[in-house]
Amino acid sequence: MTKKTPPSIIALDGPAASGKSTLGRTLADSLGYLFFDTGILYRAVTWIALEHDMNLRDEAAITELAQKAQIDIHPPSKADGRACDVVIGDRDVTWDMRDGEVDANVSVVSAYAGVRQALSEQQRRIGLRGRVVMVGRDIGTVVLPEADLKVYLDASAEERAKRRFDEIIARGGTADYEEILRKVIERDHIDSTRAVAPLRPADDAVIIDSDKMNAEQVVARVMELCK
Ligand code: DC
Repeated sequence: MTKKTPPSIIALDGPAASGKSTLGRTLADSLGYLFFDTGILYRAVTWIALEHDMNLRDEAAITELAQKAQIDIHPPSKADGRACDVVIGDRDVTWDMRDGEVDANVSVVSAYAGVRQALSEQQRRIGLRGRVVMVGRDIGTVVLPEADLKVYLDASAEERAKRRFDEIIARGGTADYEEILRKVIERDHIDSTRAVAPLRPADDAVIIDSDKMNAEQVVARVMELCK
């Protein structure tokens, strides 16, 4: 299952809200590895484009933005559930880039080949240093096909929508479960049918269905694979 023991490069892919980030963070913490959530980059580019009222259908302009964007990632400055601070200019956008508007538009931005190329190069450069848990949609298939361990974490759309709903409520926000479910299904569809780097498990990935597992059980299963 793993090419090296313990694996140095761990690729963790799966659909929206499948629990990849929670698993990745826990795994990285216990192994003393870097945790890198690559969705941050796609979200940050989308956030900048929305902030500047750019036309998201203008592929050339959005691609240029992805090539030039200065996205800073720092250790967390607050204990509010964040894994890191995401800073653009002098603004902390850690939570802003997880809002509904970014959620609704990020799949369009991340389907552009030029955007993917610009952001994948950054991810690959960082990933190849090793001792990393990299989380995304195409890490095992495109960004780091040489990863020592590839895990594809899946769960039903209903279960994932419920988790996202609970997360928002726990942060003190308000949410509509049916609306979240509709968006999860829509995002799955765009992410898995796009022409470039669609969401799919790598041939050599271990697929884990977390529907009937809690977070601890999923971590235990992946830790087992690391041995
Ligand atoms: O994991 P997330 O929900 O924060 O990701 C946001 C979006 O970014 C998601 O809809 C698809 C895209 N994404 C991607 O295309 N490739 C990645 N490696 C990571 C995220």
